[in-house]
Amino acid sequence: MSAGSEMEALVAQAKQAIGAVADLDALEALASELTGRKSLIAKANQELKDLPPGERPEAGRRIGQARAAINALFEARRGELMAAGEAERIRAERIDVSLPGPSVRIGHEHVISKTIGDLTEILVGMGYRVAEGNEVDTDYYNFEALNTPPGHPARSMQDTLYVESGRGEEVLLRTQTSGVQVHEMESCSPPLYMIAPGRVFRRDTLDPSHSPVFHQIEGLAVDSDLTLGDLAGTLKFFIREYFGGEREIKLRPSYFPFTEPSVEVSMSCFLCDGSGCRTCGHAGWIEVLGAGMVDPNVFGSVGYDSERWTGFAFGLGVERFAMLRYGIPDIRLLYENDQRFLSQF
Ligand code: PHE
Repeated sequence: MSAGSEMEALVAQAKQAIGAVADLDALEALASELTGRKSLIAKANQELKDLPPGERPEAGRRIGQARAAINALFEARRGELMAAGEAERIRAERIDVSLPGPSVRIGHEHVISKTIGDLTEILVGMGYRVAEGNEVDTDYYNFEALNTPPGHPARSMQDTLYVESGRGEEVLLRTQTSGVQVHEMESCSPPLYMIAPGRVFRRDTLDPSHSPVFHQIEGLAVDSDLTLGDLAGTLKFFIREYFGGEREIKLRPSYFPFTEPSVEVSMSCFLCDGSGCRTCGHAGWIEVLGAGMVDPNVFGSVGYDSERWTGFAFGLGVERFAMLRYGIPDIRLLYENDQRFLSQF
């Protein structure tokens, strides 16, 4: 076979072999086999020196052409395989953005915050604005200005946590949100419609129905000619908004130092509708909050003219509302942060 046709055959064989290779590793192995030191081309090159001198240039040129042709075939195939690999990788890495992602557990409002929010929303809708108070306050705002001077027997209704005595003033953790009434009346003139949600503190031992820290929402309305009937109507509307339109309310005489008369408000049981069940202690009625007409002495402490203005106030326990509404049997569940419990709300 002439050197020329031998090289042509070599190129044709290479072309077929290169075309059949399916991946880059195999292609590199084939490249060293076909163009490396032990390849037929290398061998033909070494044998050039055995040819008659006249034939060497022509043979050398053909070998060079064949090597170039084979290298070009390799280069082209390399390009093809790399492009195919890239396409394959893109396909494998493709993300279907329409698939649902891994679900991330996000937190949500605590049931106490939710209850405060729900109750506040109703009251704001009724025209009350939200006032902020301080959890640490003085004895004056928590008791004295609320017609509860030192030594008053009503102080023992709420076991108080005192913080320190500063500048001759007794400083305490507020036992009720009622002090916010005093702060607000000091800074605003009537008419006044405000609510004050917040934390309160009492020296109580944690048990299924007591907690030393809990939440109240205070309400205060001051206007001309407000009556107990206005208070009853307001609370009936409010309780129906929260517990349902069927609820009836009942006022019973009670005692708070800062209201006169004072009332304990009960609503007809939302489970048995008044016929008696475990939730209402077979009474048909459930106590929900304390309220009353603002005592003139309280108006006196803030400089409101009690001849001209009348008012009513109410205070409710947020935990109590939440426990009733959701049937929570133990107040401690509200503070233990057990996600299995909290995630139900
Ligand atoms: N502050 C009272 C309590 O904590 C509740 C209350 C508020 C009663 C306003 C009457 C008027 O028990």
